[in-house]
Amino acid sequence: MNIYTDTLKPEQPEFYDAVESLAEQAFGPGRFARAAFRLREGVMHEPELSFVLLRKEELIGSVRLTKIMVGENEALLLGPLVVKPEFKNCGIGAQLMKKAVSSAREAGFEAIILVGDFDYYKKYGFKQLPHKQIELPGPADPARILICPLVEGIESKFSGQARRYEVKPGSQID
Ligand SMILES: CC(C)(COP(=O)(O)OP(=O)(O)OC[C@H]1O[C@@H](n2cnc3c(N)ncnc32)[C@H](O)[C@@H]1OP(=O)(O)O)[C@@H](O)C(=O)NCCC(=O)NCCS
Repeated sequence: MNIYTDTLKPEQPEFYDAVESLAEQAFGPGRFARAAFRLREGVMHEPELSFVLLRKEELIGSVRLTKIMVGENEALLLGPLVVKPEFKNCGIGAQLMKKAVSSAREAGFEAIILVGDFDYYKKYGFKQLPHKQIELPGPADPARILICPLVEGIESKFSGQARRYEVKPGSQID
């Protein structure tokens, strides 16, 4: 039985340092060279779609969603997903994943992309893609490029080069 009251909430700026330190612990400096990192570089994650899990005010898990472009279509990139090592295998990753996927769907996004282990992510609706359907800005094992369609049958729409999100000209009000 879990005797603690966990709080799952949107990631606010006060958690940025703790989230960075969790990612550093899990992935080390090699994370900066990963294709997924390059897609997020310089782009703010979506604050309402990125979550932290707190236990007794300690941050023990985090997931972020960041807008990206795939071809001409907007999608979300999931990652990093990290759980503090001493709290692994207690369902914290599951709570974060369910919250992230349901929130992205409610917010009207069509798909979430990630680079990760299919065996872990398949239970949250992620699927493997045909080879080269989505190209990343860096090396990635094709079997690890996954998509979670948030609208039935939408996955074929997401093909081509994945790149950092840009605000479309004319869509910003000065
Ligand atoms: C991956 C991670 C987020 C999972 O968090 P968690 O809180 O331990 O996950 P849950 O408790 O919800 O689920 C645990 C289950 O997932 C399985 N699992 C964990 N990592 C897995 C992987 N890479 N592939 C397949 N299954 C995996 C566990 O064996 C366990 O299985 P069980 O329920 O049958 O016992 C956590 O292990 C972590 O932070 N890892 C380091 C960072 C990382 O690799 N992030 C993912 C990047 S792709």
